[in-house]
Amino acid sequence: MYEILTKAVIAEKTKEVVIAAPHIAANAAPGQFVILRNREEGERYPLTIADFDHEQGTITLVFLEIGKSTYELGQFEPGDRVPDVVGPLGHPSDIRGDLNVVCVGGGVGIAAIHPIAKGFRAAGSHVISVIGAKTADLLFYEAQMRTFSHELLVTTDDGSRGRRGFVTNALAELIDRDGATSIHRVIAVGPSVMMRAVAEETRPHRIKTIVSLNPIMVDGTGMCGGCRVEVGGETKFACVDGPEFDAHKVDFDLLMARQRMYSTNESQAMQECRLEEDIEQARSNSRTEDTDR
Ligand code: NAD
Ligand code: FES
Repeated sequence: MYEILTKAVIAEKTKEVVIAAPHIAANAAPGQFVILRNREEGERYPLTIADFDHEQGTITLVFLEIGKSTYELGQFEPGDRVPDVVGPLGHPSDIRGDLNVVCVGGGVGIAAIHPIAKGFRAAGSHVISVIGAKTADLLFYEAQMRTFSHELLVTTDDGSRGRRGFVTNALAELIDRDGATSIHRVIAVGPSVMMRAVAEETRPHRIKTIVSLNPIMVDGTGMCGGCRVEVGGETKFACVDGPEFDAHKVDFDLLMARQRMYSTNESQAMQECRLEEDIEQARSNSRTEDTDR
């Protein structure tokens, strides 16, 4: 059982929880993730570790309430316990101290790029970060990313904060400004469509580009095949071979097709979840009305 110590709403539908998990925190490194289960019969789902504290024995998770499980997790309060948290899983990021890196985070992917930017900065690399969201209301960790970056560029699709446009527009400007040879590595985390666009932006410049893939995951141990992706024409399992891969070799079309496979079931589960909550709310209201009479 893993106790939730703090919970905060950090952007629209986006929550941050700090969980007591000493064994996971002791071994956690940037780029890794955990698999959670909210209740014994619940589904297993992955979340990237947004931060960890070896001394306090805590991990920080950030999630957008987009599916049934993340919505349920969002209902947990400090003091509640999550029955299953398995990790840290996946290979850590290849953090080095002698690089000029550009860390790109899109949407909730900002949470995943956060420990990577922090890690590169702590190791001594020069870090430029680009973070972007659809609107200012969905943007988070701006102050934290500024702390760990030598330079921070902020974008929103609608221009409500920072530059108007996608993170890839800011990245293109950066490549124009500094020259492709001055950038040793780009690391990007966000929706697949964004990571594919980042890969297409850096490919002609031959800038080494790493993306953290987020396919459907079940066991997280390489046994179920749910997280199968194709990289450089080879089948890889994101949970044990990744989650980070060379962006220029990833088959993004296949990744996105596989991600869409369960979207109908997911939205149905989410609707049922909200329906259950509405029924519970209606019951609770009727109990209150009965007592008022
Ligand atoms: P979103 O759709 O709001 O997009 C976030 C940003 O990505 C946009 O503001 C824009 O700057 C950029 N972007 C989007 N479409 C683009 C395009 N076509 N071209 C260039 N840039 C584009 O993102 P969201 O709703 O927050 O979704 C985040 C996604 O990130 C989720 O699908 C989640 O599964 C994924 N994620 C991945 C990881 C990981 O480890 N790979 C971790 C956390 C989240
Ligand atoms: Fe089952 Fe990766 S999640 S093989």
